[in-house]
Amino acid sequence: MQELIDKYTAEVDAFSPANAEELEAFRIKFLGTKGLIKDLFEQFKSTTPEEKRTLGKVLNQFKQLTEAKHQELKEQFDSQLTTSTNQQDLTLPGEGFAVGSRHPLSLVRNEIIDIFKRLGFVVAEGPEIENDWHNFSALNFPEEHPARDMQDTFFITKDGGQDSIALRTHTSSVQVRMMENGKPPFRAIMPGRVYRNEAISARAHCFFHQVEGLYVDENVSFADLKQTLFHFVQELYGEGTKVRFRPSYFPFTEPSAEMDISCTICKGAGCNMCKHSGWVEILGCGMVDPNVLENCGIDSKKYTGFAFGMGIERITNLKYVIRDLRLFSENDVRFLKQFKTEIV
Ligand code: PHE
Repeated sequence: MQELIDKYTAEVDAFSPANAEELEAFRIKFLGTKGLIKDLFEQFKSTTPEEKRTLGKVLNQFKQLTEAKHQELKEQFDSQLTTSTNQQDLTLPGEGFAVGSRHPLSLVRNEIIDIFKRLGFVVAEGPEIENDWHNFSALNFPEEHPARDMQDTFFITKDGGQDSIALRTHTSSVQVRMMENGKPPFRAIMPGRVYRNEAISARAHCFFHQVEGLYVDENVSFADLKQTLFHFVQELYGEGTKVRFRPSYFPFTEPSAEMDISCTICKGAGCNMCKHSGWVEILGCGMVDPNVLENCGIDSKKYTGFAFGMGIERITNLKYVIRDLRLFSENDVRFLKQFKTEIV
C-alpha cells in the first residue's frame, strides 16, 4: 500500500492539466466518491494495527496533498474564466454623468438680469396671485375701463372691486408694490410669471414670463429710457442692433411706446420671424403716469420715472429661433438638452 501511495503521490505532484476538463477528471479519479483515495481508505481498514500506525498518517497526508492541489488548480482556472469573459477595454471613453441643463427661459432671464444689474438695477419680485388694486387700479386702469380687456384675466374672485383676486396679468403689479413700500429713487427689474386667459397655440399661451423695469428719481427723462433700452439691446443681441420706438398706449405710462429692434435673424432684410418687415417688437415702455406715482404715495411734482416690460419668451425666440411657444412648457428633453450650459 505504501508503494501505491508513493506512486499516486508522484502522479499528483506531476499533474499539470491543460484545461478545466482535465482537472475535473483528476478530481473524479482521486477524490470522487468512487475514487482512488476512497479505495485506499477501504484497503486501510484491513491492514494490521501496526501498519495502521504508519499508513494512517501517510494516507492522510496524501489525501490533503491531493485536495490542496485540486483546490489550487481550480482557483487558477476559475480566475482565468472570469477575466476572459469580463475582458475590459481600458481605452474606451468613460460614461459621462447625465448633467442637467438650464431652461432656455432661465438662461435668458439671467442674462437680462445681469445686464441691468451692471446698470445698477436691483432685482425685485412680487406675488403671482394679486388683487385688483396692484394689477389694475393703482396702475390707472379705471373700473370697467375697456383697457382692462387688453389683458384677458383669470379671476379668482371677481366682485370685490379693488380687492378682487386674480392671477397677475403682468409684472407691472410689482412696480406698485415696490413704490408703495419704499421711497424714491427706485431702480429695479422684476422678473416673473404672468397669466392670461388665452387659447394655447404656437403664438400664445395661458402663462408666460416678463421682466419689468422701473426707474424713478428726480429728472428722469424719456432720453434716459431710450438710452437704457438701447444699451440693453446692444448687450443682449450684439453691437449694431437697431432700435425704434413707436407711439403706443398703456394706462400706466404717458407717453407710451413700443420698442422694435432690427430683426436678429435676417438682420433687417426680411424673413418669417419679422413678417418680412425687418423689425420685431420686443417690449412696451413709457414714462410712469403721474397718477400711478400719486396712487403709490410718490410726489409726482418732484419725481418722474420710466418703466418697461418685456416678454422673456419673445426675447428667447429671437435669440434661439424658436417658433413655437408650447415648447417652453412641454418639458421635452430633446428640446431642453439643446441648451447645454455650464451650471454654476
Ligand atoms: N405691462 C405691460 C404689458 O404687460 C408692459 C409695460 C410695462 C408697458 C411697463 C409699459 C411699461 O404689456
